[in-house]
Amino acid sequence: MDNRPIGMFDSGVGGLTVYKEIKELVPNEKIIYLGDTKNFPYGSKSKQSIIELSKKNIDFLLDKNVKTIVIACGTATSQALEEVKNIYKVPIIGIIQPTIEYIKNKKSLKNIGVIATRGTIRSNSWEINLKNQIKDINVYNKECPLLAPMAEEGWVDNEIAHLTIKEYLKDFPKLEALILGCTHYPLFKKIIEKEMPNTEIINTGEKIAKYIKSNIDLSGNKEKSKDEIYLTDTECNFINVSHKLLKENIEIMKGNV
Ligand code: DGL
Repeated sequence: MDNRPIGMFDSGVGGLTVYKEIKELVPNEKIIYLGDTKNFPYGSKSKQSIIELSKKNIDFLLDKNVKTIVIACGTATSQALEEVKNIYKVPIIGIIQPTIEYIKNKKSLKNIGVIATRGTIRSNSWEINLKNQIKDINVYNKECPLLAPMAEEGWVDNEIAHLTIKEYLKDFPKLEALILGCTHYPLFKKIIEKEMPNTEIINTGEKIAKYIKSNIDLSGNKEKSKDEIYLTDTECNFINVSHKLLKENIEIMKGNV
Protein backbone atom coordinates (compact mmCIF):
# COMPACT_ATOMS: atom_id res chain seq x y z
CA MET A 1 0.00 0.00 0.00
CA ASP A 2 1.21 3.46 -0.88
CA ASN A 3 -0.54 6.34 0.87
CA ARG A 4 1.08 9.09 -1.15
CA PRO A 5 -1.23 11.07 -3.46
CA ILE A 6 -1.57 10.78 -7.24
CA GLY A 7 -0.42 13.92 -9.08
CA MET A 8 -2.07 15.13 -12.26
CA PHE A 9 -1.71 18.10 -14.56
CA ASP A 10 -3.31 19.77 -17.56
CA SER A 11 -3.24 23.24 -19.06
CA GLY A 12 -6.57 24.04 -17.43
CA VAL A 13 -9.95 22.54 -16.68
CA GLY A 14 -9.77 19.69 -19.24
CA GLY A 15 -7.83 17.34 -16.99
CA LEU A 16 -10.78 17.39 -14.60
CA THR A 17 -12.56 15.04 -17.04
CA VAL A 18 -9.80 12.54 -16.19
CA TYR A 19 -9.92 13.49 -12.49
CA LYS A 20 -13.67 12.74 -12.45
CA GLU A 21 -13.16 9.22 -13.82
CA ILE A 22 -10.33 8.47 -11.38
CA LYS A 23 -12.43 9.69 -8.45
CA GLU A 24 -15.27 7.44 -9.51
CA LEU A 25 -13.13 4.34 -9.73
CA VAL A 26 -10.71 4.86 -6.83
CA PRO A 27 -12.46 7.42 -4.59
CA ASN A 28 -10.15 7.02 -1.62
CA GLU A 29 -7.01 8.01 -3.49
CA LYS A 30 -5.90 11.55 -2.68
CA ILE A 31 -5.27 13.59 -5.83
CA ILE A 32 -3.17 16.69 -6.30
CA TYR A 33 -4.31 18.45 -9.48
CA LEU A 34 -2.44 21.22 -11.21
CA GLY A 35 -4.08 23.32 -13.93
CA ASP A 36 -1.48 25.44 -15.70
CA THR A 37 -4.03 28.15 -16.52
CA LYS A 38 -1.31 30.78 -16.79
CA ASN A 39 0.04 29.04 -19.88
CA PHE A 40 -3.24 27.90 -21.44
CA PRO A 41 -3.59 26.91 -24.28
CA TYR A 42 -0.97 24.22 -24.75
CA GLY A 43 -2.43 23.17 -28.09
CA SER A 44 -0.89 26.02 -30.07
CA LYS A 45 2.61 25.89 -28.48
CA SER A 46 5.81 24.31 -29.80
CA LYS A 47 6.97 20.87 -28.71
CA GLN A 48 9.92 22.48 -26.88
CA SER A 49 7.61 24.75 -24.87
CA ILE A 50 5.35 21.82 -23.98
CA ILE A 51 8.34 19.83 -22.72
CA GLU A 52 9.55 22.75 -20.57
CA LEU A 53 6.09 23.39 -19.12
CA SER A 54 5.56 19.68 -18.45
CA LYS A 55 8.86 19.48 -16.55
CA LYS A 56 7.86 22.44 -14.36
CA ASN A 57 4.47 20.87 -13.66
CA ILE A 58 6.06 17.53 -12.77
CA ASP A 59 8.59 19.23 -10.45
CA PHE A 60 5.73 21.03 -8.70
CA LEU A 61 3.86 17.76 -8.16
CA LEU A 62 6.97 15.88 -7.02
CA ASP A 63 7.46 18.54 -4.35
CA LYS A 64 4.06 17.44 -3.03
CA ASN A 65 5.39 13.89 -2.73
CA VAL A 66 3.14 12.20 -5.30
CA LYS A 67 3.60 8.50 -6.09
CA THR A 68 2.70 8.73 -9.77
CA ILE A 69 1.98 11.40 -12.32
CA VAL A 70 -0.93 11.43 -14.74
CA ILE A 71 -0.49 13.71 -17.71
CA ALA A 72 -4.18 14.52 -18.05
CA CYS A 73 -3.51 16.43 -21.23
CA GLY A 74 -3.40 15.07 -24.77
CA THR A 75 -1.05 17.77 -26.01
CA ALA A 76 1.54 17.14 -23.29
CA THR A 77 1.16 13.36 -23.64
CA SER A 78 1.77 13.47 -27.37
CA GLN A 79 4.70 15.85 -27.25
CA ALA A 80 6.42 15.48 -23.89
CA LEU A 81 5.68 12.06 -22.39
CA GLU A 82 8.60 10.26 -24.03
CA GLU A 83 11.06 12.99 -23.01
CA VAL A 84 9.93 13.29 -19.40
CA LYS A 85 9.84 9.52 -18.94
CA ASN A 86 13.57 9.52 -19.64
CA ILE A 87 14.22 12.20 -17.04
CA TYR A 88 12.12 11.19 -14.02
CA LYS A 89 12.02 7.98 -12.02
CA VAL A 90 8.39 8.38 -10.89
CA PRO A 91 5.85 6.46 -13.04
CA ILE A 92 4.27 8.84 -15.57
CA ILE A 93 1.03 7.92 -17.33
CA GLY A 94 -0.30 9.69 -20.42
CA ILE A 95 -3.68 9.44 -22.11
CA ILE A 96 -2.60 7.53 -25.23
CA GLN A 97 -1.38 4.09 -24.15
CA PRO A 98 -4.28 3.12 -21.81
CA THR A 99 -6.67 4.05 -24.63
CA ILE A 100 -4.78 2.00 -27.20
CA GLU A 101 -4.90 -1.02 -24.86
CA TYR A 102 -8.67 -0.74 -24.88
CA ILE A 103 -8.88 -0.45 -28.69
CA LYS A 104 -6.49 -3.40 -29.11
CA ASN A 105 -8.87 -5.60 -27.16
CA LYS A 106 -11.89 -4.52 -29.16
CA LYS A 107 -11.19 -6.10 -32.50
CA SER A 108 -14.25 -4.55 -34.15
CA LEU A 109 -12.72 -1.05 -34.05
CA LYS A 110 -10.93 -0.62 -37.37
CA ASN A 111 -11.83 2.87 -38.55
CA ILE A 112 -10.88 5.30 -35.85
CA GLY A 113 -11.18 9.08 -35.80
CA VAL A 114 -9.06 11.28 -33.57
CA ILE A 115 -10.01 14.83 -32.64
CA ALA A 116 -7.45 16.84 -30.68
CA THR A 117 -5.55 20.10 -30.46
CA ARG A 118 -3.36 21.33 -33.30
CA GLY A 119 -0.16 20.30 -31.45
CA THR A 120 -1.40 16.77 -30.85
CA ILE A 121 -2.49 16.26 -34.44
CA ARG A 122 0.77 17.77 -35.72
CA SER A 123 2.74 15.28 -33.60
CA ASN A 124 0.79 12.41 -35.24
CA SER A 125 1.27 10.46 -32.01
CA TRP A 126 -2.13 8.77 -31.99
CA GLU A 127 -1.79 7.53 -35.55
CA ILE A 128 1.81 6.34 -35.08
CA ASN A 129 1.01 4.49 -31.85
CA LEU A 130 -2.24 2.99 -33.11
CA LYS A 131 -0.67 1.75 -36.36
CA ASN A 132 2.42 0.39 -34.57
CA GLN A 133 0.31 -1.70 -32.25
CA ILE A 134 -2.77 -2.68 -34.24
CA LYS A 135 -2.78 -4.28 -37.67
CA ASP A 136 -5.10 -3.03 -40.43
CA ILE A 137 -6.34 0.01 -38.60
CA ASN A 138 -7.37 3.22 -40.38
CA VAL A 139 -6.88 6.49 -38.53
CA TYR A 140 -8.50 9.79 -39.49
CA ASN A 141 -7.26 12.94 -37.71
CA LYS A 142 -8.87 16.31 -37.25
CA GLU A 143 -7.50 19.25 -35.30
CA CYS A 144 -10.16 21.25 -33.44
CA PRO A 145 -8.30 24.31 -32.07
CA LEU A 146 -11.42 26.20 -30.98
CA LEU A 147 -12.81 23.55 -28.65
CA ALA A 148 -10.43 23.75 -25.67
CA PRO A 149 -10.78 27.58 -25.38
CA MET A 150 -14.57 27.21 -25.63
CA ALA A 151 -14.51 24.60 -22.86
CA GLU A 152 -12.42 26.90 -20.62
CA GLU A 153 -15.06 29.54 -21.23
CA GLY A 154 -17.87 27.16 -20.27
CA TRP A 155 -19.36 27.23 -23.78
CA VAL A 156 -20.02 23.51 -23.85
CA ASP A 157 -23.73 23.29 -24.54
CA ASN A 158 -24.76 26.41 -26.44
CA GLU A 159 -25.59 26.98 -30.11
CA ILE A 160 -22.02 27.96 -30.94
CA ALA A 161 -20.70 24.71 -29.47
CA HIS A 162 -23.20 22.74 -31.60
CA LEU A 163 -22.25 24.54 -34.80
CA THR A 164 -18.50 24.34 -34.17
CA ILE A 165 -18.63 20.62 -33.47
CA LYS A 166 -20.82 19.97 -36.51
CA GLU A 167 -18.27 21.78 -38.68
CA TYR A 168 -15.29 19.89 -37.24
CA LEU A 169 -16.93 16.47 -37.58
CA LYS A 170 -18.50 16.91 -40.99
CA ASP A 171 -15.77 15.33 -43.15
CA PHE A 172 -15.18 12.10 -41.22
CA PRO A 173 -16.01 8.89 -43.07
CA LYS A 174 -18.00 6.16 -41.29
CA LEU A 175 -16.15 5.42 -38.04
CA GLU A 176 -16.52 2.71 -35.45
CA ALA A 177 -14.91 4.93 -32.81
CA LEU A 178 -13.90 8.53 -32.25
CA ILE A 179 -11.14 9.24 -29.73
CA LEU A 180 -11.49 12.47 -27.76
CA GLY A 181 -7.76 13.13 -27.97
CA CYS A 182 -7.93 16.29 -25.88
CA THR A 183 -9.10 16.03 -22.30
CA HIS A 184 -11.26 19.14 -22.65
CA TYR A 185 -13.49 17.42 -25.22
CA PRO A 186 -15.52 15.10 -22.92
CA LEU A 187 -17.20 18.33 -21.81
CA PHE A 188 -18.84 18.28 -25.28
CA LYS A 189 -19.60 14.56 -25.22
CA LYS A 190 -23.39 14.92 -25.45
CA ILE A 191 -23.18 17.08 -28.57
CA ILE A 192 -20.58 14.83 -30.18
CA GLU A 193 -22.71 11.74 -29.50
CA LYS A 194 -25.69 13.45 -31.07
CA GLU A 195 -23.64 14.32 -34.14
CA MET A 196 -22.21 10.78 -34.47
CA PRO A 197 -24.92 8.49 -33.09
CA ASN A 198 -23.49 5.24 -34.48
CA THR A 199 -19.92 5.81 -33.39
CA GLU A 200 -18.39 4.87 -30.03
CA ILE A 201 -17.07 8.05 -28.44
CA ILE A 202 -13.93 7.25 -26.45
CA ASN A 203 -13.24 9.25 -23.30
CA THR A 204 -9.57 8.68 -22.47
CA GLY A 205 -10.14 9.47 -18.77
CA GLU A 206 -12.14 6.25 -18.35
CA LYS A 207 -9.26 4.23 -19.75
CA ILE A 208 -6.68 5.94 -17.52
CA ALA A 209 -8.84 5.36 -14.43
CA LYS A 210 -9.02 1.62 -15.20
CA TYR A 211 -5.28 1.54 -15.77
CA ILE A 212 -4.67 3.19 -12.39
CA LYS A 213 -7.01 0.83 -10.58
CA SER A 214 -5.15 -2.22 -11.84
CA ASN A 215 -1.56 -1.00 -12.06
CA ILE A 216 -0.87 1.53 -9.30
CA ASP A 217 -0.12 0.68 -5.70
CA LEU A 218 -3.28 2.12 -4.15
CA SER A 219 -3.53 3.67 -0.69
CA GLY A 220 -5.12 1.99 2.28
CA ASN A 221 -7.31 5.04 2.96
CA LYS A 222 -10.72 4.07 4.26
CA GLU A 223 -12.40 7.37 3.48
CA LYS A 224 -12.86 9.64 0.50
CA SER A 225 -9.89 11.92 0.13
CA LYS A 226 -9.70 15.69 0.41
CA ASP A 227 -7.95 16.58 -2.80
CA GLU A 228 -5.83 19.62 -3.53
CA ILE A 229 -6.44 21.62 -6.71
CA TYR A 230 -3.88 24.21 -7.77
CA LEU A 231 -3.99 26.70 -10.63
CA THR A 232 -1.04 28.73 -11.86
CA ASP A 233 -3.40 31.65 -12.52
CA THR A 234 -6.70 31.91 -10.71
CA GLU A 235 -8.14 34.64 -12.94
CA CYS A 236 -10.25 32.24 -15.00
CA ASN A 237 -13.56 30.45 -15.24
CA PHE A 238 -12.30 27.22 -13.67
CA ILE A 239 -14.76 27.11 -10.76
CA ASN A 240 -17.84 27.54 -12.96
CA VAL A 241 -16.75 24.95 -15.49
CA SER A 242 -15.64 22.48 -12.85
CA HIS A 243 -19.04 22.83 -11.19
CA LYS A 244 -20.78 21.95 -14.45
CA LEU A 245 -18.64 18.85 -14.75
CA LEU A 246 -18.27 17.61 -11.17
CA LYS A 247 -21.55 18.96 -9.73
CA GLU A 248 -19.72 20.04 -6.61
CA ASN A 249 -17.95 23.12 -5.35
CA ILE A 250 -14.22 22.84 -5.36
CA GLU A 251 -11.69 24.93 -3.57
CA ILE A 252 -8.76 26.17 -5.60
CA MET A 253 -5.32 27.26 -4.48
CA LYS A 254 -2.65 29.24 -6.25
CA GLY A 255 0.20 27.05 -7.39
CA ASN A 256 3.52 28.74 -8.04
CA VAL A 257 5.16 26.59 -10.65
N1 DGL B 1 -6.51 19.49 -22.34
C1 DGL B 1 -5.47 19.62 -23.26
C2 DGL B 1 -5.27 18.47 -24.16
O1 DGL B 1 -5.70 17.39 -23.78
C3 DGL B 1 -4.91 20.93 -23.64
C4 DGL B 1 -5.72 21.88 -24.43
C5 DGL B 1 -4.93 23.14 -24.63
O2 DGL B 1 -4.36 23.63 -23.65
O3 DGL B 1 -4.85 23.60 -25.76
O4 DGL B 1 -4.71 18.54 -25.20
